[in-house]
Amino acid sequence: MKKLVFATNNAHKLDEIRAILGDKIEVLSLKDIQCDADIPETAATLEGNAILKAEYIFQHYGLDCFADDTGLEVEALNGAPGVYSARYAGGNGHDSEANMRKLLAELQGETNRKARFRTCICLIEGGEKHLFEGIVNGSIIEEKHGTSGFGYDPVFVPQGYEQTFAELGNEIKNCISHRARAVEELCKYLNR
Ligand code: IMP
Repeated sequence: MKKLVFATNNAHKLDEIRAILGDKIEVLSLKDIQCDADIPETAATLEGNAILKAEYIFQHYGLDCFADDTGLEVEALNGAPGVYSARYAGGNGHDSEANMRKLLAELQGETNRKARFRTCICLIEGGEKHLFEGIVNGSIIEEKHGTSGFGYDPVFVPQGYEQTFAELGNEIKNCISHRARAVEELCKYLNR
C-alpha cells in the first residue's frame, strides 16, 4: 500500500484524513516516523509554511508527504490575522481567548465583517510539489457564541448559516470547512 507522511501530530486532523482516504493510502504521522523536530513555520504566507513543513520531511526522511497551514483572513483587516492566526495576540500563540478578544476589539464599530478561513496543503510526491486550497467564506460576529470546535470557531459564522462553527458542531463543520475542502482536493488528486 502507498504510504504518505502527514507532517502533523494533531490526532483530529489524522483521523479526518484517514477516514477520507480509506484503505487506499496509509497515512503516517510525525510520531510514526520518529520525528519530534520543531519544524519551522517562518514563511510569510500559508502556502509558504505548508511548503516549508513538507520540504522538511522530504529533505530529512526522503518520504512522500504533505503538510497544511490554515489562517483566518478578515477583509476589513486586509487579510489579517492570516498566517499569524495562532499567535495574533502575541506570546507563544494558541491562546484562542486572547486571539478572539483582539479580533473583536480590532473590528469594533466596523460594519464590514466579511472573513474567510483558508487552508493550504503542500503535497510532495516523487520529489514533485503540488498545492491544494480550501476556503470557507463567512463573517465575524460581535460576540462569542458556542462551545465546540477550537480557535476562532465561536466568532465565525459560515455563509448560508445563522450559527457559528462552535454552535454548529463538528459534524456540520467538518462537511463544509476550509480544511475539509482542501483535504477533498488532495484526496481527489491522490485517488485519481
Ligand atoms: P493550523 O495551521 O491548523 O495550526 O491553524 C493555525 C491557527 O488558525 C490555529 O491556531 C487557529 O487559531 C486558527 N484555525 C485553524 N483552523 C481553524 C478552525 O477550523 N477553526 C477556528 N480556528 C482555526
